[in-house]
Amino acid sequence: MNYRHSYHAGNFADVVKHAIQWACLSYLQQKEKPFWLLDTHAGLGMYDLTGEQAQKTGEWQQGIAKVLAATECPTAISGYLAAVRQLNTDQTLRWYPGSPYLAALQLRARDQLTLCELHPQDAEALRANVKQDFPARGQIHVHAGDGYAALKALTPPPIKRGLVLIDPPFEQTDEFEQIERALHDGLKRWATGTYVVWYPIKDPLKIGEFHQRITDMPQVDKAYAIDFLAKGPTDTTRMNGCGMLMINPLYGVLHQVAPIMNFLTPLLAQDRGAEWQGRWLKNNEA
Ligand SMILES: C[S@@+](CC[C@H](N)C(=O)[O-])C[C@H]1O[C@@H](n2cnc3c(N)ncnc32)[C@H](O)[C@@H]1O
Repeated sequence: MNYRHSYHAGNFADVVKHAIQWACLSYLQQKEKPFWLLDTHAGLGMYDLTGEQAQKTGEWQQGIAKVLAATECPTAISGYLAAVRQLNTDQTLRWYPGSPYLAALQLRARDQLTLCELHPQDAEALRANVKQDFPARGQIHVHAGDGYAALKALTPPPIKRGLVLIDPPFEQTDEFEQIERALHDGLKRWATGTYVVWYPIKDPLKIGEFHQRITDMPQVDKAYAIDFLAKGPTDTTRMNGCGMLMINPLYGVLHQVAPIMNFLTPLLAQDRGAEWQGRWLKNNEA
């Protein structure tokens, strides 16, 4: 386990992921009923962009820094950007929130959030970050362990409205297969749950194959994918973009995808090959 998200916090991939995550939870907040969220690969929750690791790559400068510099933004992304701005009140960009912290901001007292982080030290830091800032907000559980195992153990959840966010480090060559197994296990136990998976795009052809395997899964009725390229994929050994796969997507969120991605794409573009696409991979209800 060498991966450290602090090298990548606030980069273009975080921005795409967190903007969509924020839209999903905003949608769930629209109803009084409680929601449940499982973040299988939580990370630290909060990142110091002036820290050694973030400074070494400077990836956030091509990500959140560019987006915050825009003078106007669509409503669909304004809540997420306001959350980042509020952490940086002295006008300098220092703090970037991870998926757990953003989720905790949107949590109400009746909702439940379970955060899994395998790295023991990172799990401790995560616990400190969320417990310190949200002592009384909802039910936040931090689990120092394997997120895939937690998905199996915790589904079906006590609250039937909600989603599972799967955001692995893709350090291991079989990460896509692990995701597929996790979705298989999860859907067997909780067929109606929403599952949101983040993935890197190096070679778009490989992503096409992943999408096909998801489409072929009999447990999957509805799958939607958002794919973003920050640059043309001329070098398929590098991360050229990222995607979000949604199983049983929240319909209200799909209307927000175009305003969010049309806004982000020119800001996050690294060359003229930048583009995004959102499409149904499978919809048995259509
Ligand atoms: C991409 S980072 C997560 C970033 C976070 N979701 C965010 O958006 O702020 C992936 C994290 O998963 C952790 N991790 C790796 N394998 C794991 C596993 N099997 N279960 C839970 N966490 C794992 C890593 O230590 C790392 O902190």
